[in-house]
Amino acid sequence: MYRREIQEQALVPKGADEWDGRAGGYGAHPSHGGYVDDFIARMRLDGARSVLDVGCGPGTLALPLAARVDEVVALDHSPRMLEALRDRARELGVANVRPMLRAWEDDWHDVPVCDIAIASRSTLVADLDAALHKLARHARRQVCLSYPVGGGFVDPAILAAAGVELPRVPDHLLLLGMLHRMGIVARLDLLHTRSRLAGCADFDDFARRLAWTTGPLDAAALQRLRAWYVADPQRAARGGRDMVWAFVAWDVERADDAG
Ligand SMILES: C[S@@+](CC[C@H](N)C(=O)[O-])C[C@H]1O[C@@H](n2cnc3c(N)ncnc32)[C@H](O)[C@@H]1O
Repeated sequence: MYRREIQEQALVPKGADEWDGRAGGYGAHPSHGGYVDDFIARMRLDGARSVLDVGCGPGTLALPLAARVDEVVALDHSPRMLEALRDRARELGVANVRPMLRAWEDDWHDVPVCDIAIASRSTLVADLDAALHKLARHARRQVCLSYPVGGGFVDPAILAAAGVELPRVPDHLLLLGMLHRMGIVARLDLLHTRSRLAGCADFDDFARRLAWTTGPLDAAALQRLRAWYVADPQRAARGGRDMVWAFVAWDVERADDAG
């Protein structure tokens, strides 16, 4: 069902070049704060020595986690995201994060198995089933991931106001269904973050950030969007409704641990 929905909706996950273009601004995004703490608080870090962070971006989680374990292996398919991670690690004096240029879809034979494998806000891939199997194979103790809830990344009211239709992201329940078929009963929490359109400097900033999700907006769409933006300045400052992430985690029991 997941693959069919991705196909029917013609949903094309963003490629490495698009993420490259976003590497500079991503870390400064105001919605990270509470989310990062909420995610890390749900990890079973006691006694854990290594973390594999898939789709690590500029190290939003990898860097704070480096203070809690011996090593973080940080995978991303975007060279510029990994550059941003290296720069920040240097600035912070963090020496135990190992960046690896790798996509979900690549060969992972040399990716180390870690105590905990995480994938935060990086699970929108064409073959989610394959990604889940890869994560499960690379964790000794626990897997934690987050996946968008509600069909997308932007408040539908904003899209409707602009008259833009976007492919819907498959429901997070399909992810739970895939895990169920793998014999995994996962735990589900909901994590709220501010909208990625929150705190824009002005309308131009708002329209530019929205266009990263929607693609270029024509003059008519921009006009309608501006009407939505000025109608309620507080709502505009919030960037519409909060973003909700499904936090999904399970404990791993490996055959080699038994007995
Ligand atoms: C929204 S960012 C999340 C970054 C970080 N994990 C966080 O939660 O802040 C998504 C990241 O996943 C990476 N990504 C997306 N698709 C990927 C793929 N197919 N293989 C590897 N990385 C991917 C992007 O380059 C980007 O750095």
